[in-house]
Amino acid sequence: MPTVSRRLLLAAAGITVVPGRQAFASELTMTPEQTEGPFYPRTLPVDSDNDLVQVRGSPARAMGTVLHLQGRVLNGSGVPVPGGTMVEIWQCDSQGLYDHPRQPRREQRDAAFQGYGSVLTDADGRYTFRTLKPVAYPGRTPHIHLKLETPETRRLTTQFYLAGDPRNEGDFVWRQAVRGNPRDQAMIEMRLEPANGLESGAYTTWMDIVMPSSPPRA
Ligand SMILES: [Fe+2]
Repeated sequence: MPTVSRRLLLAAAGITVVPGRQAFASELTMTPEQTEGPFYPRTLPVDSDNDLVQVRGSPARAMGTVLHLQGRVLNGSGVPVPGGTMVEIWQCDSQGLYDHPRQPRREQRDAAFQGYGSVLTDADGRYTFRTLKPVAYPGRTPHIHLKLETPETRRLTTQFYLAGDPRNEGDFVWRQAVRGNPRDQAMIEMRLEPANGLESGAYTTWMDIVMPSSPPRA
């Protein structure tokens, strides 16, 4: 808490100090919660590992541009959540088709794309996926869906976007999540870099995910 004199100085400068707020001064921006949408898989694929580009037992590689999506799962103070957070992602294939009963032309989807993957974070809170750079489909800007659950049942459902994509501003889910706040925007926009030394022609991005500070109320 600021001393009285500092508080008076701040007041003179037109700055209001909210008592107790000081403790949260170093809190990170939470990753914005977003809708799950209609395409979370009804049944999980037999191969549901963290490499969505290669389905086990199939020689084909998914069509599209490969993206290595990685980062850490953190609490609001920036401390990695100890290992064991379940991170799930799902997205459409390179033609904009989900592997879901509600998907029109589902039978035309790229069977070499897993569409869904999951991984448990390691002891340092790290996760990694090999997936596709997301593409647009009618009504939506490119995005990847995510769902997380920590060992102490804190949960988060969100979506990640491509930083700088001109279609983002026209996307209703993106707009609801960002609400004009650049800090919220930074939490859900992926900055892609060439995955030099990792995989040729692929991209990589680092996305830390900041979880809600408490489990949902029962
Ligand atoms: Fe979607």
